[in-house]
Amino acid sequence: MTRVWRPVVSGSVIEPTAEGYALSRTTPFTGAAKDAADWTAKNAGEPQMMAGLAEARLLQALIVTGRAQRVLEIGTFTGVGALTIAEALPPGGHLTSLEVDPETAETARGHIAASPHAAKVEVLVGNAADTLARLPGPFDLVWIDADKRSYPDYFQAVRDKLSGHGVIAADNLFRDGDTLNTESTDRGTLAMRDFADSVREDPEFDSVLLTIGDGVLLAWRRPPG
Ligand SMILES: C[S@@+](CC[C@H](N)C(=O)[O-])C[C@H]1O[C@@H](n2cnc3c(N)ncnc32)[C@H](O)[C@@H]1O
Repeated sequence: MTRVWRPVVSGSVIEPTAEGYALSRTTPFTGAAKDAADWTAKNAGEPQMMAGLAEARLLQALIVTGRAQRVLEIGTFTGVGALTIAEALPPGGHLTSLEVDPETAETARGHIAASPHAAKVEVLVGNAADTLARLPGPFDLVWIDADKRSYPDYFQAVRDKLSGHGVIAADNLFRDGDTLNTESTDRGTLAMRDFADSVREDPEFDSVLLTIGDGVLLAWRRPPG
């Protein structure tokens, strides 16, 4: 079947029937992540900022199959991604989540404190670029999901903080389709293209851009063989 890509102003670029079927065959949110997602859908000003179901389950797959112990999230929001990550971490695993807005961080902390995962998660308040400069790593998984203009800087800040089997997952590569619009002048979109290009051109990394949600880029250090 021939598919024609059409630019969209907002919403998924994935064909809706395929996306609906894919999501219907993905384990629904459960436990504390579901509670936080329900709260966010009802109460948050921009609920679409929380992790989507496909992205959340992908993060869990990476954690479980990669035996991740130390995870970094850039952009906490209301804690849905953080709780999803914490749920998949083994006992003793740890998530550091970075959030610039103190009020948002308090909301996330409330959801995390009410969950069974509080001991695994710390939320650090401040501009992620500043916080990253003093975080030593190594991290087995880095989830980049904050201000889009900073993605190129975030990649440079975390690439040398990955563990040997570490992986970077970055959200919103499609920017609701704007990344695919070659005439876009949006600064976030241009930064996102720079980010994707710099990962693709990094001789030490391999990557794949997954057509799930709003586009998730995975990048990991190329094995020596
Ligand atoms: C898309 S939401 C994060 C969603 C969350 N990762 C999840 O999976 O549910 C982006 C968050 O990044 C935060 N943010 C934006 N710029 C930031 C910065 N410079 N440093 C840290 N956090 C930032 C926003 O306040 C917002 O809460």
